[in-house]
Amino acid sequence: MQINFRDTHAERIKSDLLVIPIRENNLDESLIRALDRRVKGDLRARIQKSKFTGAEGNTLTYPTAGMLPAAQLFLIGLGGNANIGTDTWRKMGARARKEAAAAGAEELALYFSPDKDAEKAAGAIAEGALLAAYQFSKYRSTSKPPADVKSLTLFKPGLKPTAGLQRSVTTAQTIVPGVFLARDLVNEPPSVATARFLGEQAVKYCSDRGLSAEVWDKKKIAAMKLAGLLAVNRGSQEEPRFIKIHYRPSGRPKKKIALIGKGITFDSGGLSLKPSKSMETMKLDMAGGAAVIAAMSCLPKLGLDIEVTGYVPTTDNLPGHNAQKPGDVIRYLNGKTIEVLNTDAEGRLILADALALAAKQKPDYMINLATLTGACMVALGPQVGGLFSNNQPLADALLRCAGETGEKLWQLPLVKEYKEMIKSSVADMKNIGGSHGGAITAALILQEFVGEVPWAHLDIAGPAFAESDNALCPKGGTGFGVRTLLRFLSGL
Ligand code: BES
Ligand code: MN
Ligand code: ZN
Repeated sequence: MQINFRDTHAERIKSDLLVIPIRENNLDESLIRALDRRVKGDLRARIQKSKFTGAEGNTLTYPTAGMLPAAQLFLIGLGGNANIGTDTWRKMGARARKEAAAAGAEELALYFSPDKDAEKAAGAIAEGALLAAYQFSKYRSTSKPPADVKSLTLFKPGLKPTAGLQRSVTTAQTIVPGVFLARDLVNEPPSVATARFLGEQAVKYCSDRGLSAEVWDKKKIAAMKLAGLLAVNRGSQEEPRFIKIHYRPSGRPKKKIALIGKGITFDSGGLSLKPSKSMETMKLDMAGGAAVIAAMSCLPKLGLDIEVTGYVPTTDNLPGHNAQKPGDVIRYLNGKTIEVLNTDAEGRLILADALALAAKQKPDYMINLATLTGACMVALGPQVGGLFSNNQPLADALLRCAGETGEKLWQLPLVKEYKEMIKSSVADMKNIGGSHGGAITAALILQEFVGEVPWAHLDIAGPAFAESDNALCPKGGTGFGVRTLLRFLSGL
């Protein structure tokens, strides 16, 4: 989809669908008056009959029957002034795109009404319109490709397509394919998206200017002493992989960052087997790893002057005949030991290896993403990710970026007193805590492996996977984290 800007009037622009955002109870705008005059008062009459007020979610379709160059008008309510922000624009862009697709419109025009933060708003509209097009239909025998929207024109009388506006749109066009890659990787069935497959995809999408991917097989994983990954992999027929992606800018890097993602391609729980209902969505358990691979794949186009290394330990977690057993102890490369009392608390076991390995490089920041705990979903619900950090400026920066991308994050505390709960009678710690505070005890275990490096842990168990369709994403993998990570990296 082409996205462009134009300096023109609503009653002059030619399009298949003309979208007009309306603030609540603001129907007396000159724009509506001008359009209404062209259709001889009929628009006003329709608005009154339909009870369209401009409340959030309100919409009104109006076919112009040849009386305007636009074939159809589509009014979208934005809600009251106080709540209008990037989130509003992003959702509006998505609505507009969906309506255009449903109406078979190829040319979509949108009245660009934001009166402040125009660059952010343009970026958000573009992002929403691009995100809304996602579909995962390769396994449907009956899918027919929807009529595709060819162009989106943002217009307003006097609108100048400044470099800043263009840049916002270009950034959205760079990042959204990354989000789609993360969604695709999560949505792929678990017997397809194996550790080996993830490694192949990393090589496929992360071989570019300054960007390369290395995939370690079981032998190399053993040589590198990644004991947690080997332990979790023991119950599987599939070999594990350890994916290491590296981005080096053309100039001298300003900062060095490590991104780490949990790559459990299917989580059955292992010998501590999950009930079948809980397994239904457990292909999602590599969403953190998918977000890291996908974010890395966008770096060359964004041309950031930082060095970034992505680490994705990946395997499935199955109860095969050689599976690790409750009571087993893992000795990690940093010398620490974990007693495995529940094989379903496997994410922390493989992340420990990756965090310890990454910490050895002494990066400026280390960020991991993981669908780590059901407890985090209990605390924050399905749409909000938990953020833990040993460094408040880093946490603040991530929270600000999340606010801007609309990916909801909420900080949870690393309560050091709860370390009591992970004390083991035989090892340095055990892999489960008590009956409460499970997201925190999991984070405390990870913290044991990061040393002094400023670190943030995003528990994305909830938002990685949408339980039902929403404006920006259909049911399934969401690509959560990709946009926030890239925004954070872009601001360094
Ligand atoms: N992958 C799960 C966490 C999860 C649950 C993600 C639901 C998304 C939706 C993780 O490996 C897990 O099983 N965690 C256990 C930990 C427990 C055994 C301490 C959990 O949350 O129940
Ligand atoms: Mn598990
Ligand atoms: Zn898991």
